[in-house]
Amino acid sequence: MTMNTKRIVLSSDHAAIDLRQAIAAHVAAKGFEIVDIGPVTTESTDYPKHGEAAARRVASGDCALGIIICGTGQGIMMAANKVRGIRCGVCSETFSARMIRAHNDANMLALGARVVGTGLALEIVDAFLATEFEGGRHGRRVDMIAALEDQA
Ligand code: RB5
Repeated sequence: MTMNTKRIVLSSDHAAIDLRQAIAAHVAAKGFEIVDIGPVTTESTDYPKHGEAAARRVASGDCALGIIICGTGQGIMMAANKVRGIRCGVCSETFSARMIRAHNDANMLALGARVVGTGLALEIVDAFLATEFEGGRHGRRVDMIAALEDQA
């Protein structure tokens, strides 16, 4: 599978509708298949359920990667990481976005719509989607993270 055939799930809370739509258009224009699971209005809504819904799409294998957004990115990231098999990091710059793929095999990216502007957010998304997991010693460490799920 090449990167451009990957299905990407997008979700947010009410704080990030505009940024989510900008990311959807940007990523679709690059040839990725977008699964945008909303919400569609700016009515106040609870970020945990949106983080979980996107995470389940990734954990089930329906989508290869996920991008989730709330005001800070923090709450929706915390919710997503409660789903078995999810490795999600919040990024506010591109270095971390590359590294969570390269070293941590992150399968979800969280963004804060009240933290980063649209231009930077799109660069962070590009960095995340363009980077592959390096494996090797990093694979052993990612396996250690997974093992923690059996000890909870
Ligand atoms: C909503 O006001 C806000 O709390 C939410 O978007 C997010 O920042 C939580 O982590």
